[in-house]
Amino acid sequence: MVQIESLEKYFGEDKERVHVLKGISLNIPEGSLYTFLGPSGCGKTTTLRCVAGLERPERGKIAIDGNPVFASGERVYVPTNKRPIGMVFQSYAIWPHMTVFQNVAYPLTIHRRPKSEIKKRVEDVLRIVGLHGLEDRPAPKLSGGQQQRVAFARALVNEPKVLLLDEPLSNLDAKLRVQMRFEIKALQRRINITTIFVTHDQSEALAISDQIAVMHAGKLIEVGTPHQLYSRPTRKFTATFLGLTNLIEGKVIEMGGDSKPGRIETKKGILSFIPATSLGRNQAAVISIRPEHIPVHKEKPQGLDNVVEGTVKEAIFMGDAYHCQIAVGDMLLAVHTHPFLNMSPGEKVYLYLDPQSCNGLPAEPRIRKEWMKP
Ligand SMILES: Nc1ncnc2c1ncn2[C@@H]1O[C@H](COP(=O)(O)OP(=O)(O)O)[C@@H](O)[C@H]1O
Ligand SMILES: [Mg+2]
Repeated sequence: MVQIESLEKYFGEDKERVHVLKGISLNIPEGSLYTFLGPSGCGKTTTLRCVAGLERPERGKIAIDGNPVFASGERVYVPTNKRPIGMVFQSYAIWPHMTVFQNVAYPLTIHRRPKSEIKKRVEDVLRIVGLHGLEDRPAPKLSGGQQQRVAFARALVNEPKVLLLDEPLSNLDAKLRVQMRFEIKALQRRINITTIFVTHDQSEALAISDQIAVMHAGKLIEVGTPHQLYSRPTRKFTATFLGLTNLIEGKVIEMGGDSKPGRIETKKGILSFIPATSLGRNQAAVISIRPEHIPVHKEKPQGLDNVVEGTVKEAIFMGDAYHCQIAVGDMLLAVHTHPFLNMSPGEKVYLYLDPQSCNGLPAEPRIRKEWMKP
């Protein structure tokens, strides 16, 4: 539904000129909720604004539903109001002097649609977002969640093919933010609209997305489902940005095969691991293992590989888990254990680094071309 090819964008002039998008390429499948995730300043909003036609890139191509809306070579540039998109911004930009109806009808009134059509379309879309019956309420009399829904209704009233959402939840308080995740997801599923969702919040991205594009410093790092990116990221950046992880450095001594684990030499001895991407012999690599994937034993487990000995440095009771720091030689591992397993500082423990949970990644990341495909 949305195709972006080799997008390049600069801001500023001469010495001040900064390269903000460095060749972004991606394909967004029809009907999916597709998230741009990355730290602040990595270029998420700029990419979204290029899709909306609010920024003009220097190079590249953008097509929506097969129709080019931007192509640097062919000098194609379709203006914002001619692109089949609806947008919701961080500040909802709802008119305070208007009612719910007037706010939602606004995009239709400026296009001078007939009154009867406006009435019908606004009623339909208010029903979709669950604001039916609140037509005459003045905007200032709405709660945060209701304002959000007005913004969505207004973005949808023109029946766009693509919905663009730029950090739409960041102005809400923590509880409402979590609740609105479910609401957005349910709404998106119900009307099955292709949606681009921008956020820097990794848990929001995991919760809501069909696919996530991880971005960093103007580049696309990798694309995958929340499950793929959390459990088998192929890049170190993804592993550390999405959730908490432990990284153990080493050198590959055996690459492993289809079902056979690879082997890596680390300061903690030789460990078995599953390669997330192709790794060569002698290549510098890291093992990434999540804190919740490390079982803790108080006695040394027999007959298992990948067991390391450590000392509990800190154990914080979190209610549903203990969050521990465990010293293994000069390395500190984050480990989450069951709340019934009493953990006290100074205690000696054994950690089972299950090879299936040890994700082998290149220490020096390389870009893989396959990520460009949907
Ligand atoms: N209008 C602008 N003029 C100059 N620099 C800009 C402008 N808009 C964004 N930038 C810069 O471009 C980079 C990417 O910004 P942005 O796309 O807003 O990042 P994100 O949305 O991921 O936080 C940042 O370094 C930002 O400072
Ligand atoms: Mg932004």
